[in-house]
This record gives sequence, C-alpha cells and structure tokens, in this order.
Amino acid sequence: MKKLLLFVLAVAGYAAADGRTNISVTTDHTQLVLQVKDNGRLYQTYLGERLSADSNLDDLDQPWAKPTNSNIAGFEAYPVMGTEDYYDAAMGIRHADGNPTTVLKYVSHEQRATDGGTETVIRLKDEVYPVNVTLHYVAYAEEDIIKQWTEISHDEKGGVDLSRYSSSMLYFESEKYYLTEFCGDWSKEMQMKHTELNNGKKILDSRLGTRTAMAMQPFFELGFDAPARENEGTVLMGTIAWTGNFRFTFEVDHNGALRVLSGINPDASLYRLKRGEVFVTPEFIFTLSTEGVGEGSRRFARWALDHQLFKGKEDRMTLLNNWENTFFNFDEAKLTSLFDEARDLGVDLFLLDDGWFGNKYPRSNDAAGLGDWQVTKEKLPNGVPYLVKTANEKGVEFGIWIEPEMVNPKSELAEKHPDWILRLPNRDTYYFRNQLVLDMTNPEVQDFVFGVVDNLMQENPNLKFFKWDCNSPITNIYSHYEKQNQGNLYIDYVRGFYKTLERIQQKYPDLNMMMCSSGGGRCDFGALKYYTEFWCSDNTDPVERLFIQWGFSHFMPAKVMCAHVTNMNRRASVKFRTDVAFMCKLGFDIGLHDMAPADKAFCQNALKEYNRLKQLVFSPMTYRLVSPYDGNHCVIQRVSEDKSHAIVAAYDIHPRVGENLHPTRLQGLDADARYRVKEICLMPDARSGMYFHDRVYTGDYLMKVGLKVLTGGELSSRIIELVKE
Ligand code: DGJ
Repeated sequence: MKKLLLFVLAVAGYAAADGRTNISVTTDHTQLVLQVKDNGRLYQTYLGERLSADSNLDDLDQPWAKPTNSNIAGFEAYPVMGTEDYYDAAMGIRHADGNPTTVLKYVSHEQRATDGGTETVIRLKDEVYPVNVTLHYVAYAEEDIIKQWTEISHDEKGGVDLSRYSSSMLYFESEKYYLTEFCGDWSKEMQMKHTELNNGKKILDSRLGTRTAMAMQPFFELGFDAPARENEGTVLMGTIAWTGNFRFTFEVDHNGALRVLSGINPDASLYRLKRGEVFVTPEFIFTLSTEGVGEGSRRFARWALDHQLFKGKEDRMTLLNNWENTFFNFDEAKLTSLFDEARDLGVDLFLLDDGWFGNKYPRSNDAAGLGDWQVTKEKLPNGVPYLVKTANEKGVEFGIWIEPEMVNPKSELAEKHPDWILRLPNRDTYYFRNQLVLDMTNPEVQDFVFGVVDNLMQENPNLKFFKWDCNSPITNIYSHYEKQNQGNLYIDYVRGFYKTLERIQQKYPDLNMMMCSSGGGRCDFGALKYYTEFWCSDNTDPVERLFIQWGFSHFMPAKVMCAHVTNMNRRASVKFRTDVAFMCKLGFDIGLHDMAPADKAFCQNALKEYNRLKQLVFSPMTYRLVSPYDGNHCVIQRVSEDKSHAIVAAYDIHPRVGENLHPTRLQGLDADARYRVKEICLMPDARSGMYFHDRVYTGDYLMKVGLKVLTGGELSSRIIELVKE
C-alpha cells in the first residue's frame, strides 16, 4: 500500500466549484477529458489536440458542448446496456437475478507513473448491484500513444453473464468520417480500403479464433473531414492487442457523432464470469495525429519498440529458411548442404521449416503427423541435436518450425487425446488444411504446448529460434474442458495461449520467436509481447510484398516484419526481390545452387550492407514517399532518430511508356545539415546510373527539391544511403 501511494503522482482531476470532477489523460499533443457529472456518472467531454494549461475544462460541459437533440446527459465514457442511451453499449451484463441493466457511477480515480507512461485508473460501480468496473488509460507522452483497457468484476451470488466487454468507447464530432480498413486473405494481407461512414454501423471484426486476422486485420484509421492522408489532416489510428476474435464498431448516431467501440468480439462469446474473478479486456491502443497517418505510424513504431514489443530494443537475426526451397522434401544431407549455403550467404541462422517430425505418421505432407513432435527417424536419423551441432560447427545458428496448437487427425496425439481437440461431440467435423485445433483452455493442453518448446530446448539448449505457425482457424467450436461454459471458449483460448507463451518467455528469455499464421493471419500487439517478429505473408512476390509491407508499416516497425527473398516472381531480378525485403527484417528462402554467380555475390554484399545499416533499417522513423497504390512506383525512406543517417528505397513497378518522372522530395531530414548521397547495394560491376551518386546536398534541398530516384525501368529498384557530413 505504501509503495502504491508513493507512485501516485497527482490526481489530475479536480473538483470544480459545483462539485464536478475533471480527469485528463494527456500526451504531448493529445488530450482526453472525462468528467463526472451531477448524476455521478462519467462522460467524455473532450478528445482532441491538447488544450493549453489555461483552458477551462468545466466549459466543456456547457450546454452547447452537449450532444444536441438527445435525451442523454453526454457521451458516457463506458456506456452500459439497458438505460437511456440507445446506441451500442460498451458493456452488457445479465445479473444473477436476470436483470440485464447496469448504471455505473464514479467511485474514485488516481494517476501514477508506470513504465514509460502515466496511468490513470478510474473506478466505477453499479448503483444497485455489486459490479465493479475499472477503466485504465496509459498515456505515453512523447510517443503520443494512449492505451486503454477495462476490468470487470462482481460479487454477486452465482455467476453473471457478460454479453459485451469492450476495451474502450471513444466519441468524435466531425462533419465527415472516413474509415481505412486493412483486409485481405491468405497471400494478400493488409490491403487498404477506404469508405465514408454514414449513419448506422460499420463493423470490422473477426470470428476465426486462432488464425484470427486471415480476412481482417485488427487495425483501422479514421480520417476526419477528409480520407486519411499521409502527411496532413487529423486521423485516429487504432488497434487491439488481442490474438483472437476482435471487433471495432463505428456508429454514426442521429446527431452525426461517431462512436468507436473496440474490444473482443462478443459474438458467440456470452462469458460466464465467476464471483470474484476479474475480466481483463485487451488493450486498445490509439494515436490521434493532426499530421496524417505518416506521423501516426512513426508514433506507433517508436512506442512499440520502446514499450510494447518483446525485445523491442534488441537486435534481430538474418536467416535462411528452407520452406520455399524444399517444402517437405529434405533429408539430413540436404539440410547440411543448406547450412553451407547459409554460411556462404552470410546469414546468422538456418531455419528448418515444416516436415521434420512424426514417426507412426511421418509429416511428409500436410495431412499427417501434426502433434507428434518427435523427429522423423527415417528422414533425420541423428535427430535435431545433430542438426544444431552441425549448423553451429559451420558457423550458423539453428532455428526450428513448430505448430504446437494444432493436430492432424492422422497423428498419435489425436489417437491418444481426442478430448484435447476442439470438436463438436454430435456433429460433423470440419477441417482446415487437414487439421484441427487443440483446446488451449485446458491446462493439460497448455502443458503439452509448453512442452513442445521445452522438450526441444532441453534436448537442444543451443536452439536460438522458433517459427510458431498456426494454419487453421477454429472450425468446430466446442471445448470438452469448458463443458457448460462454451461461451468462454474463444476468450479463454487466447488467455491459455498467452499463459503458455508467458511460461516459455520466463523460462527461455533469450529465445527469439517468429509468429506465423499461414503468413500474416496473426499480427497484433498482444502476441508481440512474446514474439520477436512475425511473418507478413506467404506471398513473397516482391510486387505484392510492396503492398503488404506498405500496409503493415502503418502500425508495425520494420524490425518485426519478416521479409524473405525467394524465387516467387522470377520476372523480378534477385536485386529487386532483395531490395524489397531489405527494408524489413531480412531473410532468404531460396537455394543458392541455381543462382547466377552475380546474383549470389549481390546477395552476399546486400547482407553485409544490411548488417552495417541494421540500426537505420530498424529505425521507427519511416516516411512513405510514393505509394504503390498511386500507380507504378513505390518509395520508402527511413531516417535515424538523430537525423544523421537515412536510407531511401525506390521501386519502379510497371512504369508507363514516356511517363514523366519527377523528383521525389525526401522528408524528416535536418534542413541545415549536408548529406552525402550514394546508391548502395549495386549489382557486381554495376556503376550507379543516378546523377546524384556520391554528391552532397543540404537537407533543405533534398526536402524541397528532391532527387530523381525513380526510373522508367520495369521492376527496377535502388537503395540510396544518405550520411550527414
Ligand atoms: C505456412 C507458413 O506461412 C509457411 O511459411 C510454412 O511455414 C508452412 N505453413 C509450413 O507448413
């Protein structure tokens, strides 16, 4: 208690003369004001650019500031179901006596310093029933990010049912609202689409369970008065840190106000909450930028590296993966030859993909063996220890693929533990990629999944990396463990999953892990507390990748976005393919044996350059200069935080004949500094054809006049380095 009090900085709320309390959640540029009104309830009275210290927060409650043409007292911070507000509520609870309504009254609040931010905790309580709701807000001042979550608990005799449990509700008033969503499918993740919002609801959600983001990613952008733009305009960017079903509801009410509800998707998840148990929602994370989405992305990337990601500040390993090179078709000799290729190439690690396990049902395709995590003796007679040892002797680290939450019906695991599998007891079973999902709500299954990593680590303490795949959504929603509480399944699954990852992280804090879900079917800031990186897509065609990486760069720093050079789209040169992967976390998934000597030499040099520039490539300061969505080119720039170093990657996709190519203006440089500009990562013997090569320019010139970094060459690319003199 004493310790807690020490951390309580100050109560930023104050009681005004009429007894009202204002609570401010502020970052350097954004302010959210909540006010306790005369009825004892909590309302949002402001969310926008930070007000000056002299602003009178009480004036936010003047009649003109209230929602017009409405019977409600204001925009309730956490509206509940069943009373005077007839729009979608943040929380719905059916009490033990069957009453479906709740009215939350303010109890107390406090503010305290947390790791890198300031946390505001506001306690609310139902006026009649013993139901407590605690709202949490953490404001990261410098990064201008706010994260928000809610805790719900009760002391009713018997359980209550939660029908809604949003992480947050935010309100906006503007003439027009434009939504950008990030949707797609396998092989076309993070495609950006835009819509204007009008009266009524637009929902972005997922009900896929495990491979949750297969069709819709948990990110959105909202442009106010104009569609979200790169460098101008006010925009809200939001995401939910949850690796399961999520839902964002955008509802424009009859007054033209927009309500944004974010949280777990409550569909098919009527949650039975036991007395005394605390329901903690996932974090909703947002930034409100007045300088477009470019600024918002830099804020997200900075914040993620500093405060959210596992090993956010640490290095990442380059690697050679064997999936697209061999698929299931490999043996010991093949793998050891690939270790030589990895060393030859100059990567840090070799990553063995799917197909190394199963004996009764060997994993020689995707129809068998999943769940049997013993090495296939016939294929790899000397086991994983031999592979690790041999790779290490050749100077490369070793990593391995697993998919521990899943099972093929054709496996020893499925024969031994049918009750561990999510499957309807009395209906047909539906398969996705010939597999089923294990029941992560069951502690025995959690132990098993933990054991997959633990056993491999015990046997191979030198294992440095896991690729954790997840190829199936939940197809048969029934848990033999949850029994009467099937509504808890989707949510408890994710909790069981996190619990297991937590155990792994605690026991093996040095281990790097890639999150993969048939590509980018899982990508969120909840799972990235445990994984060091994620696989953006199985689509490694560099042209498609430009779009996919463009999308992810809106929220994710380059350090976590795995991009591999492969043979997909051989129309593009190895240089083009490498230049595309270069701006993310670089890897290769390609055989060197059939590579032209010049291409191989190019890759070896590119890896050296990558290692030299890694800190810059991983900088959160991304400037998206030319969008692939705008036509035939794409240009991305990254700048070091001290502005002394920058890199520009320029790609010509399908230029038009006779197209006018104008200079591209750079951004984020020091206008007064002088930068030496050089094209790097050239093919052996090639000389830079760029007129600006090895010349010095002021930052002012580069940002106002720009450089002609684009060409008319189809599928051509260049990497340009700028060093402050
Ligand atoms: C899907 C992943 O996205 C691929 O990279 C690969 O690991 C396969 N699964 C293996 O089955």
